[in-house]
Amino acid sequence: MADVTMGKFSGPAEPGRDVLGVLLDAGAPIAYICMAGSCCTCRVRVISGAQHLAPKTQAETFHLPAGGGSVDERLACQAVCLGTGDVQVDQ
Ligand code: FES
Repeated sequence: MADVTMGKFSGPAEPGRDVLGVLLDAGAPIAYICMAGSCCTCRVRVISGAQHLAPKTQAETFHLPAGGGSVDERLACQAVCLGTGDVQVDQ
């Protein structure tokens, strides 16, 4: 089973679940407010496994700069798991 991990917290990366929901269920101390892609409070850095998340939503494309670096940023409430592998994030 693929997992989503933030620090010592980890939960199952079930297809269709968003990263925020998985981490909250796992008890992770992840910051969030709106759960709707508008406040950016849930912004996370994807350390590994970005390819196991669905493409960025319109909200993420709007709020997160495209950048050119190696670090991929996502909004945890918008980043949907594909269930194809492990995803590691930090905030
Ligand atoms: S909780 Fe507001 S953008 Fe994710």
